[in-house]
Order: sequence, then C-alpha cells, then structure tokens
Amino acid sequence: MSSAADRAQVLDACCEPLRSALYQPLAAAIAQGGFVVAQLGQSLDGRIATEDGHSHYINGPESLDHLHRLRALVDAVIVGAGTVAHDDPHLTTRRVPGPNPVRVVIDPSLRLDRRARIFDQAAPTLTVIAERTVPDPTIAPEQLVRVATAKGGLPPPLILAALQRRGLRSFLIEGGAATVSAFIAAGVVDRLQLMVAPLILGSGRPGLQLPRIARVDEGLRPRLSVHFLGDDVLFDCCLR
Ligand SMILES: NC(=O)c1ccc[n+]([C@@H]2O[C@H](COP(=O)([O-])OP(=O)(O)OC[C@H]3O[C@@H](n4cnc5c(N)ncnc54)[C@H](OP(=O)(O)O)[C@@H]3O)[C@@H](O)[C@H]2O)c1
Repeated sequence: MSSAADRAQVLDACCEPLRSALYQPLAAAIAQGGFVVAQLGQSLDGRIATEDGHSHYINGPESLDHLHRLRALVDAVIVGAGTVAHDDPHLTTRRVPGPNPVRVVIDPSLRLDRRARIFDQAAPTLTVIAERTVPDPTIAPEQLVRVATAKGGLPPPLILAALQRRGLRSFLIEGGAATVSAFIAAGVVDRLQLMVAPLILGSGRPGLQLPRIARVDEGLRPRLSVHFLGDDVLFDCCLR
C-alpha cells in the first residue's frame, strides 16, 4: 500500500507550480483512502488510439511522467484486458521516483497470454475474473480475484470492493476507454484526468462512451482545473 513516505517521495520530485496546484491536493485526497482516479490520453478530436489500436504515444513526455506519478501515488492501477492485449504495458513507475503499484487486469475469461509484461516480477499483479471462470492451475489462486457477473459485465463497485478486501485503498483506472467508461458510468470515479494532446487523428477509437442522453443539460459538467504538461493540456475533473 502507498504510504505517506511514498507520497512524499513523489511530491519531493515534482516541480512547481504542478506540485502545489495538482499533486499536493491529489495526494491529500488519496491519503483519505477509498479514492478512484481515472485517466485517458486523447487527441484534440477525442481519440485514444487509431482504428488498429495503436496509441503510443498520443501524449508527450511530460504527460507520460504524470501518468507514472499517478501510478506511484495509488495502491493499485487497473486496466482492461484490451489494453494488455494491444499495448502490453508494464504499468510500473520507471520514469519517476516512487513505488510500483499493485497491477490489476480485468480479464473475465482469462484470455490473456500470461507472458505479457504485466505478469512479470516487477510488481505484484492481480487478475480479476468472472466468478464462473475455470481457474488456470498454473496461476496461483491468490493472484485471482473472483467477481460475480451481472448484466453488462463485472460491476465496477464489486471489483473495487473485492480489491479493498485485499487491502488496496486507492486506485488509478488507466484504460482503455471501455474500462474507464464502465467505472464512470457506475459512479465510482472521484476524479477523471483527460490529457489532451495537440494532435488530430481524424479517425480512431473514441475515448469516453457513456450511456446515451437526449439533452445537453443531462451531460456531466464537472468542476475542473486545467494544467499544462508540456504541449498537452490536462483537464482534472472532479466527478463527486
Ligand atoms: N490513450 C490512452 O490513455 C489509453 C490508455 C489505455 C489503453 N488505450 C488504448 O485503448 C485500447 C484498448 O481499450 P479498449 O477500450 O478496447 O479495452 P480495455 O478497456 O482495455 O479492455 C476492455 C476489456 O477488459 C475487460 N473488462 C474491462 N472492464 C470490465 C468489466 N467491468 N466487466 C467485464 N469485463 C471487463 C473485458 O475483457 P473481455 O473482452 O475479455 O471480456 C473488456 O472487453 C488500445 O488500443 C489501447 O492502446 C489508450
């Protein structure tokens, strides 16, 4: 679990004005526990990857540093199986000082290749599976987190509750769009951080996809703060 000393290590390595304006308030909120932050890096036209799923790198180096800092601040980073299948991410904090989080992948039917980087020895990894999935005998049972399936998949509140029972208290939902959208639609995300790059893809995979609304005034209009990360703009949206 991320400790006060871990969070201080992350903050000490940040520069002003981001330390005071962005990271200190975030670290204070995370310290309270039960905190969920979600992120997506996207183009000006709201794409998080090309049609083929290529997303490295939409954002610039400062945004990547920010993403690694977010990882270092939380207890666990959560991704969907699609992100592991497409990007094969490490989900470590190698760009910044600070501890690696516990890595969590939602892989309901255990379809992922266990040689993916997320399953390396750099940090512990938990796999969230559907309750009825037949476990793979080569995977240690303590690495599997079983969650009951409901209409539409594994309910995000149940996923978070199961992870909290493992002692994890703060979470970064790192992607992809389907996973971040499901957690936001379920109302369990405290902060959404959108990193918008000065890039127009013109086609590609859309970012957030929430249930359909009929009127503009039904949309979310979060309180937000805006920060510059190199050439990218970070919209830090409060969803509570
Ligand atoms: N720009 C960015 O910030 C960013 C970040 C991450 C990823 N990406 C890009 O996003 C793309 C992948 O995103 P994606 O939206 O296709 O996939 P994803 O969100 O990474 O994964 C979706 C899959 O994860 C599983 N899953 C996640 N939440 C679930 C739930 N609540 N219940 C049941 N299953 C759940 C399901 O696996 P099954 O299919 O096995 O049922 C689902 O199909 C890639 O192209 C990647 O490069 C971009």
